Amino acid sequence: MKGVILAGGNATRLRPLTWVTNKHLLPIYNKPMIFYPLESMARAGIKEVLITTGPDHAGHFINLLRSGKEFGLKLSYEIQEEAGGLSQAVSLAGDFAAGEKVLVILGDNIFKHNLANAVKEFEAQPKGAKIFGKRMPECRQYGVIEIKDGRVVSIEEKPQNPKSDIAQTGIYMYDGQVFDLIKNLKPSARGELEITDLNNLYVNQGTMTCEIMSDWWVDAGTSFDELLRANMLVAEEVRKEA
Ligand code: DAU
Repeated sequence: MKGVILAGGNATRLRPLTWVTNKHLLPIYNKPMIFYPLESMARAGIKEVLITTGPDHAGHFINLLRSGKEFGLKLSYEIQEEAGGLSQAVSLAGDFAAGEKVLVILGDNIFKHNLANAVKEFEAQPKGAKIFGKRMPECRQYGVIEIKDGRVVSIEEKPQNPKSDIAQTGIYMYDGQVFDLIKNLKPSARGELEITDLNNLYVNQGTMTCEIMSDWWVDAGTSFDELLRANMLVAEEVRKEA
């Protein structure tokens, strides 16, 4: 299984910080944000990772991360010309994946959960996709997952009236169909190819599964408060390890 980290987008919610540089290069406690999804990939046993990002700061990623050797990874890079949505960014990984399954992590998602077991299980299953959920007190800023009798029945992107308290995190596993499925997507009202629309194609196929994570998870890109929360959670982990 190969890894893909999405590190593009305009990050308007974190301006003026993101006038300085790409969101994923901002600090989270003692490391740049992109280090965390890279470390999650390495912990999960992934060896080859593609980073997709916009044209503006692509060189900064290469200067910082180079070949990926320091992480025990082999890194490749792909430019997403415009922020056309998460599914559009995933579509750039077609040649890189070369028919293998992919683990996709959004570059602003920071979490404690170890994905190694899920990767092994997903590699062994014949087809389908898997999403990772996290119960949150407030879900309206996320995709929201509805589960009935243990099955995913719907995912709604940023609903006004969420059907559950399970947020769709930015961790996704896809089989080789994913690149063909993306070709069927139409841009949403905000002009993007949405990850939730892609995931719902698997839900409709009946091949989507969901794992609920119990450890902490933060989408550090949603607000300054979430960025701060990510810093504090990581600081706490570092102190525990010291
Ligand atoms: O973090 C979880 C949430 O991520 C999910 O609950 C939502 O269902 C999902 O749509 C997504 O929502 P966000 O509002 O957080 O998406 P955002 O536009 O912030 O983009 C997420 C990451 O993907 C971010 O690290 C930037 C990157 N990105 C974004 C876009 C729009 C790209 O690489 N390319 C893009 O075109």
